[in-house]
Formats: sequence, structure tokens, C-alpha cells
Amino acid sequence: MKVCVIGNGAREEALKEAVKNSPLCSELVESPDENPDLIIFGPEQPICDGLVDYYQSKGIRCIGVNKQFSKLESSKLYAKKFMVENNIKCAKLLPVECDIFPQVVKADGLCKGKGVKVVFSQQEKDEFTRKLNMPYFIEEFLDGHEISLMSYFNGSKLINFCPARDFKKLSEDAHSPNTGGMGAYCPVDLTQNQIDKLHIYLNKLETALINSKADFTGFIYSGLIWTKEDWYVLEYNVRLGDPECQVILNLLDNDFLSILLNNEDPVYKKGYSACLTIAANGYPDNPVKGDEIILPNSDKVKVYFAGVKKVKNKIYSDGGRVLSICSFGEKPFEILYEYAKKIKMNNKFFRKDINIF
Ligand code: AMP
Ligand code: GLY
Repeated sequence: MKVCVIGNGAREEALKEAVKNSPLCSELVESPDENPDLIIFGPEQPICDGLVDYYQSKGIRCIGVNKQFSKLESSKLYAKKFMVENNIKCAKLLPVECDIFPQVVKADGLCKGKGVKVVFSQQEKDEFTRKLNMPYFIEEFLDGHEISLMSYFNGSKLINFCPARDFKKLSEDAHSPNTGGMGAYCPVDLTQNQIDKLHIYLNKLETALINSKADFTGFIYSGLIWTKEDWYVLEYNVRLGDPECQVILNLLDNDFLSILLNNEDPVYKKGYSACLTIAANGYPDNPVKGDEIILPNSDKVKVYFAGVKKVKNKIYSDGGRVLSICSFGEKPFEILYEYAKKIKMNNKFFRKDINIF
């Protein structure tokens, strides 16, 4: 099969690597103009713009959510309606003027993970909503541990990947802003009760998709929080998470394309798979760009480029999230931190507190 992966971040680098390593792929092409047999969509923007519907109408097989269901990510209010109609637990909506804190402000549009903030005071709420510059709503604050549960809907059933944990905040400070993701690991160790409730939730999601006549093959990401002895949905994305995709693909022991095309269930290696984001100072608002990067050699760490520019034989930082470094084993973060410290890049920034828990 001739395969094209749309997108060019660290998640897509990992996807391209998995596709290239698959015996089902004869050629990996750069663009949909090169007549691929299959297009896999990475980021949400082309999905929400309706490009899956477009390429499908040209007869190309696509892995990506269609325009109608992309609203699960592009409109948080549409997602809320989907959850309520299908009896899926989620946070309650509150009146916009509600003055009980903490509460959660959510922009109703695509914001690359930066349109949500837990606010602890009226002042924090006012500052954030003024900056947002788009419609928003307020919801109840839920307290608990979060997991990212990524699934593949193959048109008739859900194939679920193991739970991953993502570190969304810029730092360990509860008031720090949300980012696209500063690190991740998988699998997440869950209690039997949590596993049982997860199966119940995933069955509900599958039934909801089937009952709402979902006719696509694509990824659905459920952002879940464990609270009040059950899983509550915080958000849906219509794509794989970044950096969650990198950690799942590096834990897989079977062929990723076989999962997508032959209904195979994922099989995993033993141990933990981890990823640490190397960002640039100033991220998420104003990242410093243009630093030369020199990477140490290591056979234990894989480096995916997230925001990097290549000029001749040199590489330079060119975005907020710059590198996604991945490792695998019993204590992968120890390996990643040792490596991260040795990366040469003037305005390098990474969280120092990420670990498996
Ligand atoms: P979202 O993009 O909706 O997942 O929100 C980003 C992050 O904000 C989540 O990963 C949570 O850490 C936090 N968050 C969102 N909604 C809530 C909520 N209702 N209660 C507590 N935290 C939330
Ligand atoms: N890492 C969170 C996301 O991709 O939405």
C-alpha cells in the first residue's frame, strides 16, 4: 500500500516511522497529490476542515474522523451534547456568571489545548476570558487523576489502546497554563475497579458512535478523569494525542497498520514507554526560536522533531514544542532526564518533575 501521513509534528514523525516499518506499506509518500492508497490524518485542523470527506469522495481510503464527528473536538458544546444524549458522564455546565471557585473556563473552538483553564478566583477568570477572544462556557471543576484513552473506530467497532498519562501543564504549579503536552507515559497502572469502569465507558462510547451512525474510520481520544468512583469525560479529540501517540507506538509489539487495516488488537511490550517534551523558553505564548540544537548520541533515546528547522546539516529550534524525546524500560524518565540535560540548545526548557505514578 502507498501511504500518506498528513501533518509534520512529533506525533506524525512517530506515525510515519510506524507506517514505514509495516510490511503492509510499500511506499510512504509526502503528499496526497502522489496518489496514495491510504491517507492517515495526524492533526485536528485538516480533519475539522473536512479533508477526510474530501479525499474519501475522490475514492481514497482515509483514517480520520469525518467533518460531522470532528465537532466532538472543534465544539466542546457539541461534545457535551453527545455525552449527555448518550448517558456518558461529564462535568456539569454552570452559568457563565457563576462565582463559586475553582471552576473551569472552556473556549468553544479549536485552541490547541490552550483554550481551557481551571480558575481559582474572579480575577483569574476575568484575565483568562479577556485573553480568549472567543465564545466560552463554564463547567464544574472535577478533581482526580487523568488518563488519555485513545481508540480507533474501524467503522463498526472500537479498538482501544492502553491508557496513557499526559502532563498538560507548563509546570507543576496548579496555576500554570495548559500546553499541548509536556510529557507522557504508558501504560497507566489502574485498579480492577478502574479497569471495569473503563470497559463500561468504552462500551458506551462504541454504542454511541454506532447509534449515531458514525461512518468513518478514525481515532477518538477520550480525556478521562477518575472522580466520584467513576470515569468522567473532560474532552474528546478526533486524533491521536501528542505526545501520547509517541509513547503508545513505542510500546506496540505488533504492526500498527495491521491494527488499522486488519482489525488486530494492539499487543504491547513489557515495561513503560515515556516521552519528554523539550520546549523553548517562552512557550506557550512566545517561544524563542532559532537556537542551534546539538543532540547527544544515545541508543536508548529516540528523538522526534516537533518544531525544528533544518538548514544544511544543522538543526534549529523553530516552535514552542521543539523535540519529543522517547525512551522505554522500567525507569524511562531517568534515561530521558539524563539525555535532556545534555541537549545543547540555548533556550531549552523542560519540566523536571514528570514521572510514573
Ligand atoms: P480539556 O482540553 O478539556 O481536556 O482540558 C485541558 C485540561 O484542563 C484537562 O486535561 C484538565 O486537566 C483540565 N480540565 C478540563 N476540564 C476540567 C474539569 N471539568 N475539572 C477539572 N479539570 C479540568
Ligand atoms: N496531549 C494532549 C493532546 O494531544 O490533546
